[in-house]
Amino acid sequence: METAIATEPTSMNGKTANPPLRLEEKLEEVRVYWNEHIHDLELAKHPVGTLGFFDDLDEYRFDKLNYLPKLVDFKNGYKGKKILEIGCGVGIDLARFAAGGAKVTGVDLSDTAIDLARKNFSERGLEGNFLPMNGEDLDFPADSFDVVYVHGVLQYTADPHQMAREMKRVLKPGGEAISMVYNRISWLNALSKVMKVDLEHEDAPVLEKYTAAELRDILSPFDETQIIPERFPVKSRLHKGWKGAIFNGLFVPAFTVLPASIVKPLGWHLMAFSTKTL
Ligand SMILES: C[S@@+](CC[C@H](N)C(=O)[O-])C[C@H]1O[C@@H](n2cnc3c(N)ncnc32)[C@H](O)[C@@H]1O
Repeated sequence: METAIATEPTSMNGKTANPPLRLEEKLEEVRVYWNEHIHDLELAKHPVGTLGFFDDLDEYRFDKLNYLPKLVDFKNGYKGKKILEIGCGVGIDLARFAAGGAKVTGVDLSDTAIDLARKNFSERGLEGNFLPMNGEDLDFPADSFDVVYVHGVLQYTADPHQMAREMKRVLKPGGEAISMVYNRISWLNALSKVMKVDLEHEDAPVLEKYTAAELRDILSPFDETQIIPERFPVKSRLHKGWKGAIFNGLFVPAFTVLPASIVKPLGWHLMAFSTKTL
């Protein structure tokens, strides 16, 4: 793990001084990687940038992450709310928030992702504001958003503690931050090691997995955080051959009969709901 290059808040508005060089270089590597790797792109059947392409990604994502709409009420829970997504990718989740009546802004380090997110919204006839921006140094005033949504991003950035400070800064008092990171003590992390199968984006310049306690520490700028482990095995469309057959034919059915009390803490995704009171 790239460690301990502390960046403490220094200025009046709670923003941080310029990041040390190694972190800047790491962020540049992260930006270059995600300009070339669009999440789940290889799963789409339709040409990149078409409505069919964005529908494919939405369908694949919400089949795999069937827990997500149960925890985040995209359709009815955020009408009229100002939502910022950091690391929005091509805007799959943000399109769901916008379709539910939220006023959405998406930022991402990757220009490719931002271009595709804009296309996604124009194909769907939705309104959204998209900007290439570093989530560790947001160009928004303090107290700007009702919700800050950061799904699958803290684990890929150079300094997650700095991102968490920025998430809190731009959130209005009374607002909510929703995050997701990968759970180190989880079925998928164990399985990938036993089966010697790489995780998605294992080649990214930064890919961390955290325990619930470590996530709580990252989110410590917030006043309260509730962590919910989620994401249990569903059949894989990605992995083929005998390993894919064992996973789909044996592992997934076996897992579903284990008692919930045993498997619940072992979910691959740690969802966190944090509040800012002041
Ligand atoms: C695994 S993808 C997740 C995309 C989207 N949130 C989703 O769940 O489909 C990670 C995204 O985080 C973005 N990212 C990583 N570090 C970032 C940072 N410091 N600021 C903004 N975006 C960042 C990457 O460019 C990439 O688009």
